[in-house]
Amino acid sequence: MGLRKILTDKEPALHKVCKPVTNFDSKLFKLLDDMRDTLIESGGVGLAAPQVGILRRVVLVDVGEENNEIVEFINPEMLETDGEQYGPEGCLSVPGKYGLVKRPYYAKVRAQDRNGDWFEAEGEELIARCFCHELDHLDGIVYTEKMDRFLTEEELNADE
Ligand code: NI
Repeated sequence: MGLRKILTDKEPALHKVCKPVTNFDSKLFKLLDDMRDTLIESGGVGLAAPQVGILRRVVLVDVGEENNEIVEFINPEMLETDGEQYGPEGCLSVPGKYGLVKRPYYAKVRAQDRNGDWFEAEGEELIARCFCHELDHLDGIVYTEKMDRFLTEEELNADE
């Protein structure tokens, strides 16, 4: 297990534009493996490299209906979005809080895998929300900058 510390949005790393990955080497593989372990351990849906202090364009998203169907997106780009959804969104870097954010209902991205090969992936609802959220991280944007407001304690408790 290679767990990395998840930074909070107080850290400057969460607010910087990340650089593209150019070397598909053992250092990248180690980062990806550690991010995978860290994402599983945290119970989150997605994790971006800046959240573990690495300013490179790498995100992991759990796209599975079941848990731990984790896909690695390197140098991801948004290809297409459609529709709209509005609802609560959380982030491992903003622990214990959820905010109301408007996102597209559908999103399609292209990215490289760990071998440098390009692929496409698409999703609706939570997956589309997660693609948008994680790609924002690579441009230094945390969802709290886009939300209307945080959910109140009362609203949080009502969901449980
Ligand atoms: Ni996040």
